[in-house]
Amino acid sequence: MIDAVLPTYNRAPIAFERGEGAWAITAEGTRYLDLGAGIAVNALGHANPDLVEALTQQAGRIWHVSNLYRIPQQQRLAEMLVDATFADTVFVTNSGTEAAELAIKMVRHHWFEQGQPERIGIITFEGAFHGRSTGAIAAAGSEKMVRGFGPLMPGFRQLPWGDMEALRAAMADRPAAVMFEPVQGEGGIRPMPDGDLREIRRLCDETGALMVLDEVQCGMGRTGRLFAHEWAGIAPDIMMVAKGIGGGFPLGAVLATEAAAAGMGAGTHGSTYGGNPLACAVGCKVMEIVADEAFLADVRRKGALFRQRLEGLVAAHPDLFKGVRGQGLMLGLKCRIAPAELVGAGYAQHLLTVPAADNVVRLLPPLTITDAEIAEAALRLDQAAASLA
Ligand SMILES: Cc1ncc(COP(=O)(O)O)c(C=O)c1O
Repeated sequence: MIDAVLPTYNRAPIAFERGEGAWAITAEGTRYLDLGAGIAVNALGHANPDLVEALTQQAGRIWHVSNLYRIPQQQRLAEMLVDATFADTVFVTNSGTEAAELAIKMVRHHWFEQGQPERIGIITFEGAFHGRSTGAIAAAGSEKMVRGFGPLMPGFRQLPWGDMEALRAAMADRPAAVMFEPVQGEGGIRPMPDGDLREIRRLCDETGALMVLDEVQCGMGRTGRLFAHEWAGIAPDIMMVAKGIGGGFPLGAVLATEAAAAGMGAGTHGSTYGGNPLACAVGCKVMEIVADEAFLADVRRKGALFRQRLEGLVAAHPDLFKGVRGQGLMLGLKCRIAPAELVGAGYAQHLLTVPAADNVVRLLPPLTITDAEIAEAALRLDQAAASLA
């Protein structure tokens, strides 16, 4: 008989009752060190007191207000994002998928406004993940995601990841946009080299194509900069954000330049819950904490520390691991074994990690993880690896 919960996930037989910082705790009191953070969501750890206060204070005032009215918390969050980034304007969503949908709509509308409604081609890369809506799966195009869900939304063309020659050739078709993650998450913690990011920016400028970055997983301080593209010194035209920005409360956003968002006036898009006061009160608090340069410098320092530990782990278990990749606290262990084996061995050590494609295990701890917890994580990973050797 089918489960009451639609069985679209392979779930581990573990349930958590509460959390504290980098720890997720079962009803029996077993403490798991959480290097998954809800897949890069709990950026400030579990039950962060500042976020609990922001949420509960707002909960005592007003929960929901329609976008038929002004929502001061939404206005403040949008202004904080505009002040901290390339963007001139922001639409607040509830998730990364919704942000991807709006980004796609915005690209189409941009060219519609330019009098070129037929210019709908969006170049993406293999290994991409933008969510599970019909548009997002068409964008990613992987067999695993699209099988059985056709016909797909037209207009997407996937190129091999990092194939700049193929991209240069494809730009001759004057696509509407190039859309990708600066660091692929689900695709296996694959950073786009800074030089390639700059080259894509140049190619977009040359052809007029919009550069659309998906920073749902790699943004909000995860790589040690507020947004990952900042490492390359470039700025996109449109950017999707979600996950970390809500610290665990469902929240996302699309950021855009005024030119990219041209024509997105009243009636062109909407969302009942998007920009809800509860979500935005939390989002503002997350932004206050994460957009601080001292906080980001500490993420970079801890990322380097964790990476050093992981390189030691790889050296100690060359039969299991090939190397470490990623940036800041978005790290991946490239495995010689199936990632699920290491993730499973981690559970036995009360350690949470996340599998990804390309034989990688992802390590995406809360950005607030301490040095001592990083040392403990390395120890537990070593014990997990030893149990597999
Ligand atoms: C890069 C990226 N984009 C989009 C999404 C979809 O976000 P959500 O699951 O919040 O809809 C994800 C989720 O994993 C993601 O990693």
